[in-house]
Amino acid sequence: MFFRKKEKYEERVLPTHIAIIMDGNGRWAKKRSLPRSAGHAAGSKTFKTIARYCNKIGIRYLTVYAFSTENWKRPKSEVDNIMNILRDYLKDTDNFKEENIKLQFIGDRGPLAEDIKELMLKAEADSADATGLHLNIALNYGGRDEIVHAVKSIIRNGIGVDDITERTISDHLYTAGQPDPDFIIRPSGEYRLSNYLIWQSAYAEYWFSDVLWPDFSPRDLDRAIDDFSRRNRRFGGV
Ligand code: FPP
Repeated sequence: MFFRKKEKYEERVLPTHIAIIMDGNGRWAKKRSLPRSAGHAAGSKTFKTIARYCNKIGIRYLTVYAFSTENWKRPKSEVDNIMNILRDYLKDTDNFKEENIKLQFIGDRGPLAEDIKELMLKAEADSADATGLHLNIALNYGGRDEIVHAVKSIIRNGIGVDDITERTISDHLYTAGQPDPDFIIRPSGEYRLSNYLIWQSAYAEYWFSDVLWPDFSPRDLDRAIDDFSRRNRRFGGV
């Protein structure tokens, strides 16, 4: 069994950059008559498991949607809860340092609490030399907001109209210098992009599943990657 599995690993084509919309925490909690905070706590555990697993199997980039520009509309208690989960994750630096994971945040940091901004900067600096998985956490992130931000910085940098190419836009996004995601995963039975990486995902493959994010396991990721691998083989020979 083990060898067959190993063989399967070696044969399959791994995505270079996986982006995940971690959806379904609230429904997971509701199904168990638990508060939504329990869903986010469980979702955060899944996030750590999946990030470690991606690192282990050799995925180069993983981007997770932790908090969107629209999520401020949620009750303050829920926003505070998600921010506290993030604080705990960043304070426990073993989460990424021990794992050789390089952390980067994408999104508009402006409205975030000062202590979180400091923790984010520290985590990025502390993990800057890591050579394992490059993990982007999208926080106060919105794809349209990112494009507006890019356009403003292009103008501010005085780049001439005739010098603007697709590459110029890519180079001014939060993900500048990174390969575009080639595989977007959304669990929980929703089939939307929800303003996630809208520029970067132009040529990505998409994969949807009914599994709620807290229940999403490395096995689910393996299934998704197997599908990706098959899709890639179909087009690869042309
Ligand atoms: C969407 O599910 C989930 C979120 C808006 C929050 C995701 C955040 C985490 C999993 C914690 C991440 C932590 C770190 C450290 C990155 P939902 O609440 O919209 O679920 P529902 O659609 O079932 O209500």
